[in-house]
Amino acid sequence: MVIIRNAKFPEDLMEIYEIEQNAFENDGYSIYFITQALEFLSNSIFVAEENNKLVGYILGALDQKDGNLGWFLNIAVMKGNQGKGIGYKLLEKLMDFFKESKCKEVHLTVAPNYSPGIHLYEKFDFKKTKIIKNYFGKGQDRLLMIRDLSTV
Ligand SMILES: CC(C)(COP(=O)(O)OP(=O)(O)OC[C@H]1O[C@@H](n2cnc3c(N)ncnc32)[C@H](O)[C@@H]1OP(=O)(O)O)[C@@H](O)C(=O)NCCC(=O)NCCS
Repeated sequence: MVIIRNAKFPEDLMEIYEIEQNAFENDGYSIYFITQALEFLSNSIFVAEENNKLVGYILGALDQKDGNLGWFLNIAVMKGNQGKGIGYKLLEKLMDFFKESKCKEVHLTVAPNYSPGIHLYEKFDFKKTKIIKNYFGKGQDRLLMIRDLSTV
């Protein structure tokens, strides 16, 4: 059975790093960034645990300037565990966090052609909004998707 719970620091650090390395094929967040995120954003980081092993995680944050805005920053599920609904459960939990935090809008960016992600985000009513050119540097465009929570 998969349990979704808040991430713990430092206990979950190495396993989250392992998930990043696995899901993003060694192109994920550095261990330095994950450590800092776990220190400062622990309320909005959730992990999926199965048989005492972490198989996925999700990272969100509340915007520092705009109290109505939440950011869905990252999600990753171990390759061997993808396609089993774990990403869905993680995103459900993060969306609950944003609703409890009274966010009116949630933003995310995704590679414009990354259909597994876009498909999942559309299930949560994220709408394709615009392409932001060179978001992550030259040639690294991103699709901005927005979920309106103002009527929830
Ligand atoms: C995106 C990701 C988190 C989805 O997690 P997951 O646990 O596999 O997702 P789920 O099993 O909950 O599936 C949710 C929906 O996405 C679909 N989906 C999952 N993997 C898919 C794939 N490879 N291709 C197409 N659709 C896919 C599922 O079919 C499901 O839709 P359905 O119910 O209509 O069938 C996972 O594929 C992943 O870790 N990818 C690598 C990291 C990454 O790129 N993260 C996104 C950064 S923006």
